[in-house]
Amino acid sequence: MACEFSGIVREAFKAKGHDAWSCDLLPTEIQGQHIQGDVLEILNDGWDLMIAHPPCTYLSVSGLHWNGRVPGRQAKTEAALHFVQLLLEAHIKHIALENPVSCISTRIRKPDQVVQPWWFGHDASKKTCLWLKKLPLLKETNRLPGDDKTRRGNQTPSGQNKLGPSPDRWKERSRTFPGIAQAMAEQWNFC
Ligand SMILES: C[S@@+](CC[C@H](N)C(=O)[O-])C[C@H]1O[C@@H](n2cnc3c(N)ncnc32)[C@H](O)[C@@H]1O
Repeated sequence: MACEFSGIVREAFKAKGHDAWSCDLLPTEIQGQHIQGDVLEILNDGWDLMIAHPPCTYLSVSGLHWNGRVPGRQAKTEAALHFVQLLLEAHIKHIALENPVSCISTRIRKPDQVVQPWWFGHDASKKTCLWLKKLPLLKETNRLPGDDKTRRGNQTPSGQNKLGPSPDRWKERSRTFPGIAQAMAEQWNFC
């Protein structure tokens, strides 16, 4: 699991009997098989499957309007896109790369699918795009009632994310939803 500090997807695959590892610049939050370092240095180490969660700060559509106003920000977007490209082009048979709605769609290619946590049993809305290589589309496992307009537990009345500012806000918002991790481990279980 590339760019995963939480260990959530790693542990879901481990529970299915896989020799699963996570890699992140940060330490892992759940003790387990974790490599703390730059994932680019271990990409060619013979992995069968990679699920990658690269940083979205300079890619997500919601932040791109700052690029024209903040000096140096566009260069960070370009660097983030280059990182994504390297992950997508890794010599690994099965790849899934996950990101919110972002300029990956316009600059690299459109995602293969867009899923929502409320399709996997979570009362939360967060469009999650998946770029897939030799993996089937993820099937929903527990769709809650409603549609994209339904206000979910993580949203304010105006549809914004409820979490207030805090140093760890990005972490709270970026951890993979366990229902999605579980679906990945169940449905991408053929490696
Ligand atoms: C959006 S978060 C993904 C979190 C993930 N969904 C989880 O549940 O842990 C992006 C992560 O990418 C990590 N990261 C950024 N550059 C990296 C690199 N070159 N190698 C490994 N991890 C990297 C960051 O430290 C950050 O934790």
